[in-house]
Amino acid sequence: MCGIFGIITRDEQQLGPLLIDAGRRLSYRGYDSVGCATIHRDGKIDLRKDAGKVDEVANRLGFSEMTGSRGILQLRWATFGAPSQVNSQPHLDSDGDMVGAHNGNVVNNVELRQQFIAEGMIVRSTNDGESCVHAVERYVDRGMDPIEAIRHAYQDLAGDYSFVIGRVGEEKLYAFKKGSGLVAGLLDGGAVISSDLPSILPLTRRIVRIEDGEIVTLTPDGITIHGVADGQIIQREPELVQETMEAAQKGGYPHFMLKEIHEQPVVAGELLHLLDASPDVNPIIEKISQARNVYLIGCGTSYHACLAGSVYFSRIARRVTIPVLAPQFIAQYAPAVGPRDVGIFVSQSGETKDVLNAIEAGKQRGMGIFSLVNVVGSTMTRISERSLPLACGYEISVPATKTFTNQVLSFLYLAYRLAGLDTASLAVIPDLMVKTLEAVSHQVQALEPDFHRWNDFYCLGYGLTFPIALEGALKLKEITYSHCEGMLSTEFKHGPLSAVQDGYPIVFVAGREDVPLIVSGINEVTCRGALAIAIGEADPRLDANAQKVVVMPDSGDSNIAALLSVLPLQLLSYHLSIARGFDPDFPRNLSKTLTVD
Ligand code: AGP
Repeated sequence: MCGIFGIITRDEQQLGPLLIDAGRRLSYRGYDSVGCATIHRDGKIDLRKDAGKVDEVANRLGFSEMTGSRGILQLRWATFGAPSQVNSQPHLDSDGDMVGAHNGNVVNNVELRQQFIAEGMIVRSTNDGESCVHAVERYVDRGMDPIEAIRHAYQDLAGDYSFVIGRVGEEKLYAFKKGSGLVAGLLDGGAVISSDLPSILPLTRRIVRIEDGEIVTLTPDGITIHGVADGQIIQREPELVQETMEAAQKGGYPHFMLKEIHEQPVVAGELLHLLDASPDVNPIIEKISQARNVYLIGCGTSYHACLAGSVYFSRIARRVTIPVLAPQFIAQYAPAVGPRDVGIFVSQSGETKDVLNAIEAGKQRGMGIFSLVNVVGSTMTRISERSLPLACGYEISVPATKTFTNQVLSFLYLAYRLAGLDTASLAVIPDLMVKTLEAVSHQVQALEPDFHRWNDFYCLGYGLTFPIALEGALKLKEITYSHCEGMLSTEFKHGPLSAVQDGYPIVFVAGREDVPLIVSGINEVTCRGALAIAIGEADPRLDANAQKVVVMPDSGDSNIAALLSVLPLQLLSYHLSIARGFDPDFPRNLSKTLTVD
């Protein structure tokens, strides 16, 4: 997830070390490139940037020597444009007297770049941060002052983003927020602005939180806020913040996992915007529709997303696809694939060795290679013909949460497009995610005593909720250190039923259309003493048959309901892990990126 930082001071000074430190503090967000710009009173802009890590790039390019009275630092997490020197931020405007950087996604970047080039501007990169600079330049060149120019640029820039910008010849920085985080801080004789609080806290505790639709002007005397809608000044007193750095990095949540669970609505919304604007969606859809066989390939959580994707493709687009674990793809299918087949490889990290091996095996046989990957610039994105970003930003917690929901959402989106359906109806999902998290949080916490004495349980689903049950069981295993098996609910009677004893907890994930079948499964186990916990939308049949019901909000759509039903399972595993005294972010024996066979 990108991060921006800007500072203005009364006197010219060596800003480089301060900018490097801010970069280090922002780096927990994840990034692939780093850049700094300083602006001197004499009109000189010093811009240094490249792909790489903060300390390495800073040493190589001599960031610490950089001086000025204003400075901008940016850490880039690639979505538009590969990680490279030219795509790194900050960016200059056409004649090099304005510099800026952004955080977030400008989803009409491709169209805007074409417009800027047609208008005679000098566009140097394919990165959407540069579009923010040119969008402001466009109106400054027409004679508007920077506030007016930003108000007009806002009309042109679609997406969720924040940016910071500075011009030679005036002792000010300007920043704007729409969707992405932005916090200002007051210094003695200066001001700072940043994507988040942790990068500011060592400099000042006098903080002003910026809201969406606000333009901030930073001067050595403080900050002024204007509303983008009417240009009017907004008064806001600074607050004195007491949080520690670590607490601030977790955004007020006790663990990254909980923070990432609650980020799901935002990243889902961003993903839908990105997919709408992506030039890669149509070619991928075309390949899927023309292919002989389509394989959906991943490991762990990413494989569960493949299972859900396969159900979506069949049910929504009538396209049969084959979900398979990456090593099994090599053993079973690779010998039989050829140029008429397509593989969609799914991964959070883009570096999982098992998946890279499967890509290699498919490539050798001429199969089409496509991917859904969170880390843009990772090996998988580089060796795929086309890759769709998952747009989740950095996922720090080892248990995958937001990357899973965006993998499943990507498949749902592709299935809609393949079926020729209007994807606008998916726009309800972020809001439903918010409502689901609100509705289920306390309900799942209250279940802890039901699991307390057990180190063995089941999580069952059917149809679309079968992959969700597998994912819930993986989360429960991963961070509670208990054995939890995920299974098709109808399979339980074919053997595992013998495990049932008094109070034995079994979670049933009930899809909207599958309640009668789930109710049968519930009765098969409750009559033998099990404790049945149902997760589903409000339904009197669940209330009448299960001992406990976690009620989710009504989604009106079984495809969407299944995606939402993983949220209570993520929260359940989180709370059970905490109750057992474990650290859900870093479970024993596990690693976030598995680069070994
Ligand atoms: C999920 O919580 C796990 N951390 C794990 O199963 C993970 O999904 C798997 O190792 C695959 O990783 P990838 O998505 O980075 O390829």
